[in-house]
Amino acid sequence: MTANQTIEQLQNIDRNTLFHPSTHASDHAHGNTPVNIIESGSGIYIKNQHGTELLDGFAGLYCVNVGYGRSEIAEAIYQQALKLAYYHTYVGHSNQAVIELSKRVIDWAPDGMSKVYYGLSGSDANETQIKLVRYFHNILGYKQKKKIISRQRGYHGSGIGSGSLTGLPLYHKAFDLPMETILHTITPHHYWNAEAGMSETEFSGYCADELEKMILAEGAETIGAFIGEPVMGTGGIIPPPEGYWDAIQKVLNKYEILLIADEVICGFGRLGAPFGSHLYGIRPDLITIAKGLTSAYAPLSGVIVGERVWNVIEQGSEELGPIGHGWTYSGHPLGAAAGLANLDILERENLTENARESGAYLQSQFHHAFDNHPLVGEVRGAGLLCALEFVADKSKKTRFDADWKIGAKVSAACLEQKLIARALPHGDILGFAPPLTITKTEVDEIVRRTTAALNSVADQLTKEFSWRG
Ligand SMILES: Cc1ncc(COP(=O)(O)O)c(C=O)c1O
Repeated sequence: MTANQTIEQLQNIDRNTLFHPSTHASDHAHGNTPVNIIESGSGIYIKNQHGTELLDGFAGLYCVNVGYGRSEIAEAIYQQALKLAYYHTYVGHSNQAVIELSKRVIDWAPDGMSKVYYGLSGSDANETQIKLVRYFHNILGYKQKKKIISRQRGYHGSGIGSGSLTGLPLYHKAFDLPMETILHTITPHHYWNAEAGMSETEFSGYCADELEKMILAEGAETIGAFIGEPVMGTGGIIPPPEGYWDAIQKVLNKYEILLIADEVICGFGRLGAPFGSHLYGIRPDLITIAKGLTSAYAPLSGVIVGERVWNVIEQGSEELGPIGHGWTYSGHPLGAAAGLANLDILERENLTENARESGAYLQSQFHHAFDNHPLVGEVRGAGLLCALEFVADKSKKTRFDADWKIGAKVSAACLEQKLIARALPHGDILGFAPPLTITKTEVDEIVRRTTAALNSVADQLTKEFSWRG
């Protein structure tokens, strides 16, 4: 902590002056919830204001993929700041770092991708996506083809457009969202949404049928694009059921609907493949990237534009002049320098491969430890993304009373074990997304601490609510 300010003073200044995202505003301002000041980080561990070391099982917000304390990235940012801290990329201006990064991003991306447009956050990148969908169809003369279909429980950010794409009520309430041109189809979650006896493949067919019904009800001539995360993240860490992306893409192709893959979490190795699109055979027209692009050492996001869309953007310039879209910080040299150093580490240390191996180990150890735990209804995940969903009664598949706040209780119990795991906002779900550097021994440590946390919550529920599992 700083020499001349006590922890308590800093906490008070925080409560009086800082507006935190996703935080209970009045509880925070009035001191009913803690202010957690994070001091430093190394590898998969961070240290808080008391010097307590916590195992970060969520890599910040699924983003510190190369782990904390990488001096190589800090050095790259520093050197870039000395040489050229900023110049814009408007009207064809550029900088060496962003040029080199663009080539590397296209090399990492699935086939058929052409250009990268940069932003600073996943939310702003998805705002760009919405505009590109409109621009594309307007230039082609399909003036009505503007609606975008997203999914219930999808997470795509919290701007006006991106928050509308997000399919979680918390992000809509009191903000007059979603916009009318954004629709949400069914969540591909076999555990809750499939009828009894339906196989995963049958359920994927059902999801595709639901999508087609929505398209026909709205009029296919009004649907411009579909957006989805390869594995759903904040909505509950939900991997697609068998055959899902094939079934969805058949429907989209039939009605000439663009596909946006939101790879903000899945991109750059987290699933043990370069992108989620590679893993699931997704052939997107547009891709959203952020988080793992710089491992969050600097804010940087991007829209990767596929050839089909790019050709129309060129046509648009010929008809209308330069595209009327741009941010001051698009292609910022510091973010680009961080991105290059980050990709160097990912490639040199084979972290995609490590995510595949450690991820497979994490999934198997989680199944082994928690499939039969009385609190756990489902263990699910892919690569280094994993979730536990808690149910009041396993055999009857009944949910806990929402007031019991089980997800939050388990996440607090994990914290007592010095483990960070995230209670996701929809349902009683605890999410894990550790850095891609994680070793099998560190996975064992996550399992050990999670087991202790779950057992302590189960004991507490039995004592306080006579819960029997
Ligand atoms: C899939 C996905 N898209 C978009 C976003 C929004 O990114 P940001 O929080 O950087 O605006 C997130 C954030 O978690 C995300 O997970």
